[in-house]
Amino acid sequence: MGDIEYKTREQMLYCQESALIVNEIHNALRESVHVGMTTAEADDIARDVLVSAGARSNFLGYYEYPAHICVSVNEEIVHGIPGERVIQSGDIVSFDCGAVKNGWHGDSCFTMVMPGGDEAIAKSRQRLSDMTEESMWAGIAAIANGAYIGDIGGAIDDFVTENSPDLDIVLDYIGHGIGSQMHQGPDVPNYRTRARGPKIRSGMILCVEPMLTSGSQDNVTLDDGWTVVTLDGKDACHWECQVAVHDRGIWVLNKPDGGAQRLEKYGVTPLPL
Ligand code: MF3
Ligand code: CO
Repeated sequence: MGDIEYKTREQMLYCQESALIVNEIHNALRESVHVGMTTAEADDIARDVLVSAGARSNFLGYYEYPAHICVSVNEEIVHGIPGERVIQSGDIVSFDCGAVKNGWHGDSCFTMVMPGGDEAIAKSRQRLSDMTEESMWAGIAAIANGAYIGDIGGAIDDFVTENSPDLDIVLDYIGHGIGSQMHQGPDVPNYRTRARGPKIRSGMILCVEPMLTSGSQDNVTLDDGWTVVTLDGKDACHWECQVAVHDRGIWVLNKPDGGAQRLEKYGVTPLPL
């Protein structure tokens, strides 16, 4: 993924601006996405927010990726291409969104479970989403409390082992550094590895993005060249945040509160740039 780029405070502020535009996309989607809508219509909503914000999609054209965002439904783990797929009652849908403005990148993902449908299925999907999201926060807390990049995946792995050992961590897709490019070093695995990785240092901006599945994490990429699905057809979920490391602590750039509310239980108080 290339070298680690250590950002100045000013550069981190630019990344924050893009990250908050991505948060605006998330909010627009949370408000407007409904059962019966196609995933292409969700892409249109994202495009409109990007245009109003004076930003561009960093996904569109990335290795010829054809849309502004990725929308991954049910058995789709990541990189679902928006199209004619209709969002149904009870679907679990991950919206991975990005923005670039002034040359600095934002990238984050949230998941929602659509209302209605079979109650037991909806409940298990909501739990999958909640566990994936909380594993992400455990990983983010490890940036504040840890010393090495490997501590992040260690914390995600421990969280899943302790709280939802029936869920599987996807091994083939990992988090990354971000800044003047969407993908930079360091690699940020979502699982414990033998290597502890680079030291966590001021100036890093890290995307923490666990993907969990309700069955096996074994996966395959569809003929469209992008959409990654579970081999067993069971559900998958993806969450992602973009976290800055600065001289005094951490700040989750895509959250207006820097992640304060969700990090409190880990004893972490994020500090603004
Ligand atoms: N947002 C993805 C990530 O989290 C990258 C999307 S790749 C694209 O790293 F081609 F779809 F843009
Ligand atoms: Co990412």
